Amino acid sequence: MDHPRILIMGAPGAGKGTQSANITDAFDVEHVTTGDALRSNDDMDISDLGLEYDTPRAYMDRGELVPDEVVNAIVEKALADAAGFVLDGYPRNMDQASELEDMTELDVVLSLEVSEDELIDRLTGRRVCADCGANYHVDFDPPETDGVCDECGGDLIQRDDDTEETVTDRLRVYHENTEPVIEYYAEQGRLERIDGEQTADAVWDDIRETIERAA
Ligand code: AP5
Repeated sequence: MDHPRILIMGAPGAGKGTQSANITDAFDVEHVTTGDALRSNDDMDISDLGLEYDTPRAYMDRGELVPDEVVNAIVEKALADAAGFVLDGYPRNMDQASELEDMTELDVVLSLEVSEDELIDRLTGRRVCADCGANYHVDFDPPETDGVCDECGGDLIQRDDDTEETVTDRLRVYHENTEPVIEYYAEQGRLERIDGEQTADAVWDDIRETIERAA
């Protein structure tokens, strides 16, 4: 299949960003990620929408979902410009899932499955490059020099929402809002469950095989 349309789902820290980078390289598709799009526009003025807070950042820092109106618009525009894609971070609730059905069709729906203890370890130990966005982990994937990005030499920082308190809130929001979406795809017989708790290389082997089988 040329330019597959892939949805990757999973809890915060399940490895969606890590594996999306592999998918974009191997299958020549766009990485459409609401988290990165929101972080790069986190001071966006959304008061025109009549919402209580005036920037996406306020929601993200509390581990809450940014209003649907904002993310729906981001995804609709990104998908319109993409031949094939790996969609990461959307849909996160049933209303978004319904919007997505009006925007496009999906060829593969992946769910990365990881236990709660492992998710907390991964998120609180994650470090990201302030300049190029590359991902590291203090124990599982450390940089060659402490605090410095191997790719570009930029400073490695902890995301504001990777503190233990906010991680707990993000996981609660995930269980309440996003797990029903995963169950919805499972009930339709469309969900490909991947053991996300293996090494990143082993997870990638399973994902590549699954996409190739579907293609
Ligand atoms: P977003 O940026 O999408 O965050 P998330 O879904 O919480 O996911 P993460 O980026 O934290 O984790 P990931 O699964 O990509 O894992 P990663 O590969 O980095 O969203 C942030 C916020 O934006 C939300 O809270 C919300 O406010 C808002 N938002 C976004 N989308 C929205 C939407 N649709 N609607 C409303 N609001 C929205 O890996 C994590 C760590 O683990 C890394 O350090 C990595 O090196 C390590 N790692 C990865 N794989 C492995 C492995 N196999 N073994 C060991 N370590 C591993």
